[in-house]
Formats: sequence, C-alpha cells, structure tokens
Amino acid sequence: MKSKLKPIELVVIPVLLALLNLQNWANARPQVPCYFIFGDSISDSGNNNDLSSSAKANYLPYGIDFSRGPTGRFTNGRTMHDFIVKLLGFKDYMPPFAESEGKNILNGVNYASGAAGIRDETGQHRGGRIPFNEQIKNHKTIISRIRSLMRNDSATKSLLSRCIYSVQIGNNDYINNYFKPELYGTQRRYSQQEYATLLVQQLSGQLKSLYDAGARKFAVYGLGLFGCTPYAVSVYGTHGSICVKKVNMGATLFNNRLKPMLHQLNTNLTGAKFTYLNPSGNPAAFGKQRYL
Ligand SMILES: *[C@@H]1O[C@H](CO)[C@@H](O)[C@H](O)[C@H]1NC(C)=O
Ligand SMILES: *[C@@H]1O[C@H](CO)[C@@H](O)[C@H](O)[C@H]1NC(C)=O
Repeated sequence: MKSKLKPIELVVIPVLLALLNLQNWANARPQVPCYFIFGDSISDSGNNNDLSSSAKANYLPYGIDFSRGPTGRFTNGRTMHDFIVKLLGFKDYMPPFAESEGKNILNGVNYASGAAGIRDETGQHRGGRIPFNEQIKNHKTIISRIRSLMRNDSATKSLLSRCIYSVQIGNNDYINNYFKPELYGTQRRYSQQEYATLLVQQLSGQLKSLYDAGARKFAVYGLGLFGCTPYAVSVYGTHGSICVKKVNMGATLFNNRLKPMLHQLNTNLTGAKFTYLNPSGNPAAFGKQRYL
C-alpha cells in the first residue's frame, strides 16, 4: 500500500540528514592521531593542582569564562592548546598528566606546569612545579602505558611518530630565575648572551631526548615579549616605554638562538620536523593571561 509523505515526514527527513551529517563530523578523525603538550603556565591545564605551590590557578576568577570553571588553567577561558586541539578535530581537550587515565592517553597528554622552566631550579621559590626534564620523564611513563595498551611495539612507534609535540618553555627561566637575582645566581654568573646560549643548548638536548623517545613532529614556541606583561611592567618599571626593554631583550636573544638550533636539528635528526612558532606579535595581546 502506497502512502503519501505526510508533512511531518518532510520535516523529519531533512532533520535526520542533518543529524547524520553531524554524526559524520563528530566521527571524523582528527588531522593527527595525538597531541602532546610540554610547557609552563601558558599551557598548563591542571598539573599543579595537587602540588604545594603558589603557582596554581584552580580557583576563581581563573576559569570564569570556561565551560568547566576553574581547572588549573592560568586563564579566564581556554588556553591556546584548547583551541588548537579543537581545530585539529579532537573531540576533547588533552587531559593533564596528573589526571590522565585509560585509553584517553592515546590521543595525547598535557604535561605543562606553571612556574616550570628549562632549568630544574627555575621557579623553585614558588614551591612545587614540574620542570621540563621531569615532564619528559612523565612522557616516558605515558609511553610505557601506551605500549601496554597497544601490545605492539611497531604500532606504538608508528603512533608516536605521527603525533604533534608542542613545546612552549623558557619564560620562567627569565622571570622566575634570571630576573630575580636576589633569589637565583644566574645573573651573577652569566651575561644575557651567555644565558640565552646556555638555555638554548639545554633545550636542544631536551628536544633530542623527546626525539629518542619517538617524537618526530615538533611545534616549538619562541618566547613572548614578557617584558610587556603587567607583572614585568609593575615590578621593573618601563622608564617611559610600553614594555621593559631589558626583559624583552632576553626573549629576543633566546629566540635568535632558538631558530638556528631548530634548523640544525632538522638537518641532524633523521625524519624529524621542527617548526618554530613566533608568539612575539602584538604586546597589546598580553595581560589576559598570567605568566608564571
Ligand atoms: C603490529 O602493528 C603493525 C602495524 O604498525 C601491524 O602491521 C602488525 O600486524 C601488528 N602486529 C600484531 C601482532 O598485531
Ligand atoms: C648538528 O650536528 C653538527 C655536526 O655534527 C653539530 O656540530 C651540531 O652541534 C648539531 N646541532 C645540534 C643542535 O644538535
């Protein structure tokens, strides 16, 4: 028996099609299988929450504009990585290492920690934090968990080689180390030039150890103009400029050494792709996010 489509069905069909489309979109695979995040407070999403530390952000007004409220992100809203992972097509943000569990780690993990630096002692006056060296150790722990989830070494190796490894570190080696000479000895021992060289050398060793642990695709951030942050401006004064020049010089010296170092790593390490990202654009963009 033939029946005419009733008006209601005419409405239902396009809606169903739209839902199917949405379903497709939700099931679309992200552009990369996994995204690992190393860094400081700019990238942290809650790794310091259970540490005894003054570098914490799991209380209001942090998170005031974020759907999940305060999480340990050092910002009112989402971090840059939250935007990036959504744009890459992931369904969810990367879990902080401190809360990572189960199969979620196959999509990536966030190891970043407020007050952390390239150097282990950086930020120590703030208490607990996870320096970059320790973040790398935590990544190796995650790798062994991935290996036991996958039960296949070559598949694990292949997965790790296709992930993006985001490294955003070094701000604290200045603002919570070099530019606090009353607490740290680095300014007495090194000129600004020597210090930048030392930091970039140490960073290159750390990047190599991630490479040795299977990483191939790196996104490495230069330092922002942290001499333009409200914090730097209030502590050091600007003598009439918008920003603190000697502090910004640290960022410039560091970035000028970082770029050729990454270029060398691209040549030296087979199959590796290091990309430099420059965050030192517009000083007016600073101030929304607390630097630690
Ligand atoms: C391990 O993974 C590789 C692909 O990376 C696949 O070719 C191979 O069949 C897998 N081995 C086992 C035992 O599942
Ligand atoms: C790359 O290799 C050259 C030649 O061995 C070496 O001098 C240089 O230090 C290496 N660069 C890095 C960043 O490891």
